[in-house]
Amino acid sequence: MSAPIGVEVEGLDIAANPTESDYQFLRDALHEHSVLILRDQDITPQQQCDFAAHFGDLRTSFYNRYGVQDVPALSIVSNIRRDDGEHIGIADAGMLWHTDGSYLASPDMYTVLYGIQIPVRDNTVLGDTVFSSSWAAYSALPSELKQRLDGMRAVHSFSAHIEKKQAKGQLKRAPLSAQQRDALPDVEHPVVRRHPVNGRKCLFVTEGHTSRIVGMDDAEGTELLKFLTEHVKKPDFHYRHHWRKGDLIIWDNCAVQHLAVFDYGDIPRRLHRAGIAGSVPV
Ligand code: OGA
Ligand code: MN
Repeated sequence: MSAPIGVEVEGLDIAANPTESDYQFLRDALHEHSVLILRDQDITPQQQCDFAAHFGDLRTSFYNRYGVQDVPALSIVSNIRRDDGEHIGIADAGMLWHTDGSYLASPDMYTVLYGIQIPVRDNTVLGDTVFSSSWAAYSALPSELKQRLDGMRAVHSFSAHIEKKQAKGQLKRAPLSAQQRDALPDVEHPVVRRHPVNGRKCLFVTEGHTSRIVGMDDAEGTELLKFLTEHVKKPDFHYRHHWRKGDLIIWDNCAVQHLAVFDYGDIPRRLHRAGIAGSVPV
C-alpha cells in the first residue's frame, strides 16, 4: 500500500488456529507497519478474543452496556437500534481523530476491530476508517519544533472529549454520570512518546482527547495543540480503509491515530472491538 502504514496479510485463517510463529510474524509486521488487515475472516466473538490475546492482555471497556453477550471483552460499535430505540453498540466511536484509551494512565496498546455489517450505498462502501501515522507526522515536523516538544506534556480528558462531541452535536450516547466522570480522571502524557517496541518517536496529542498542554498559557497552548492536531490530519500520513465484511484489523495506538467516517446515516454498520492494554507512555 502506498501509505507509510497499513499492510494486508494474506494466507492466514484465524479460525484455523495460527501457530505461535504466525503470531510472531504478525507482531513483527504490526510494529513495522502499524496497521494490519486480514481479509475474509470468519470468526466467532471468542475467536476474536483469542486472536487479540496473542498481542497482550485484553482490557474490558467501562461501557459494559455495549459488550457482546457473554464476551464482555468485546465491545459493539454500531448504529443499529434495538426495538426500544437504544443503540446496540457505541454509535459515535471515532468521530474525532483519536487514539484508543489515551484518556487512561495506561492507554490501549493495540485495537482489534472486526467487520460484521458494512454499509453500502449504490455499490459504494461507506463507513471507512482513516488511520494517520503518528511517527511519520512527528518525523515531518521542523527540527526546531521537535526540540521545543521535547519533555512537553499534555492533558488527555475523557470528559472534555464527551463535551467536545456534545458541543458539535455529535454525541450519540448518554452524557457521563458523575460516577463515570470520577472513575476517569484526566491524565497527563508526553506530547511525543517513544514506541515501546521499536523506539520510534510518535506524536501523542489528538483532536479528540487532548484538552491542553501542561504549563503553557491558554492562547499559546491552544495554538500549538491546534497546529499539531491539524498536522496529523494531512493525507500524506494516511491509510484509508474501505471495509469489507470479514475484515479483521489490528492497529498500534502508539503509532497511529484514527477517525471513523460517518457518511452512512442509518444504513446498518456493526463491528466488534477488542482493546489490548498498554504501558504508561514515556
Ligand atoms: C473504535 C473506533 C472506528 C470505526 O472503535 O475505537 O474508533 O470506524 N472505530 O468504527
Ligand atoms: Mn477508536
